[in-house]
Amino acid sequence: MENPTVTLDKIVALCKRKGFIYQSASIYGGLNGVYDFAHLGTLLKKNIRAEWLKSINATFDDILEFEGGLLGPHAEWEASGHVENFSDPMVDCLNCKHRFRADEIDLSKPCANCGQTKWTDIRQFNLMFKTQIGAISNDDPGFQPSLTAMADTVAQGGVYPEKNRGAGHGKANIAYLRPETAQPIFVNFKNFISTYRVKIPFGVAQMGKSFRNEITPKQFLFRTREFEQMEIEWFCKEETALKDFDTWCESRKKFYSNIGLNMQKIRFREQTPDERAHYSIRCTDVEYEFPFGFKEIEGIAYRGNYDLTQHSKFSGKDLTVFDEETRKTYTPHVVECSVGTDRLLLTLLFDAYHEDIQAVPAEAFGEGREQETRIVLKLHPKIAPIKAAFFPLVKKLSVPMLAIYKNIKKLGYEVDFDESASIGKRYRRQDEIGTPLCFTYDFDSENDNCVTVRDRDTTIQQRISIDIIEDYIKKTLTKG
Ligand code: GAP
Repeated sequence: MENPTVTLDKIVALCKRKGFIYQSASIYGGLNGVYDFAHLGTLLKKNIRAEWLKSINATFDDILEFEGGLLGPHAEWEASGHVENFSDPMVDCLNCKHRFRADEIDLSKPCANCGQTKWTDIRQFNLMFKTQIGAISNDDPGFQPSLTAMADTVAQGGVYPEKNRGAGHGKANIAYLRPETAQPIFVNFKNFISTYRVKIPFGVAQMGKSFRNEITPKQFLFRTREFEQMEIEWFCKEETALKDFDTWCESRKKFYSNIGLNMQKIRFREQTPDERAHYSIRCTDVEYEFPFGFKEIEGIAYRGNYDLTQHSKFSGKDLTVFDEETRKTYTPHVVECSVGTDRLLLTLLFDAYHEDIQAVPAEAFGEGREQETRIVLKLHPKIAPIKAAFFPLVKKLSVPMLAIYKNIKKLGYEVDFDESASIGKRYRRQDEIGTPLCFTYDFDSENDNCVTVRDRDTTIQQRISIDIIEDYIKKTLTKG
């Protein structure tokens, strides 16, 4: 019998218990909205990234990879609109000082923390983490304007446009941790063109950290202050943009199906004009049905040529390209697909988590226990952090099984060796972390050169030759 009950608490507990994810700096009380990825979490994330990149490259040719800086100057974020607009409405309870996002609560109702109804005015809170580059601040009497990028530009004979002075003046040593990975891609647009001689259309794919000082981080990895994004910026002509947008939507659907997500729980929802950013021409949210409702896991947006136009205005640099056909210059348009790696990892855990209630053979768990709840992560084998586990039936048989395990590990597979506790307990340990296959070496193996392989999802066991273990793993990883 299968029990589909999955809650956030169960996922959080499993992640900690099995070593996927830890609260950051927990010995100091933890840092709210920041998490550390342990061995299994890191492997899981690595597999997600690999599948994402594969799917991006399968959609169109001419995809470049990129890893931009985490810090960007004030002018970059002013050009992108983040300095002015990247904020959430915030409100405090005057009684208990608890802070809320004003758009997430009903201000006519009492504070959920203390029961009083005394609110501050709503203020806009910018979500970017601001910092300062170098040892001096603008307010420091030792501050030398000649050290600023603006002064350097002018000193080198460059013209810093009058209207940009507000952006650069006195703020050249202010930087922000990037709140999205997209902007460093736009800022480097001309570099891609000149160094790789790519022609429109082409894409730039980036996987990396982003930072947002969220007012209320919540639901574990769902909304954090430090998280990873996987973004593709697809530069194209205006004429093909809507068709390319549809191609990307189709490709993203295929991706979610390929990594084994239950497609009944996924929906592609077109944003209404009211929801869209002012520059966005079309935007589709990919949403997953969590126990706390349908929530966005990815945004697919046709951004027009807003980003390149803005950076051109603020930097004073020409970000147009020449069209050989029309013999005219133009600013390319952009279709973007942006998914949070950590949010997707959480989605995969929710989707894969199962509790099977099973009759248990007495020899596995001792007398008096006829039923056992089996926690199993039914992750797609290509996403599972550990691909196979190797068990000697008893410690006496460890030497030959260890040799088999080491051979498979040498081939580059993430595998585990476990010789402690009963076979039943060892199966359960692997089920909980989503290992698709367990191989057991027993006394018969000495004579028939075979092992027993047990399937995580069906728990069916089969006898196979030791010589075909690698092929068996390979076949499992590529199953549709
Ligand atoms: N460049 C477009 C962009 O950043 P977004 O909708 O703000 O768009 C894209 O973010 C994705 O990044 C979201 O769908 C989500 O998966 C992830 N994301 C955004 N904020 C997050 C947060 N605070 N914690 C975890 N993931 C987040």
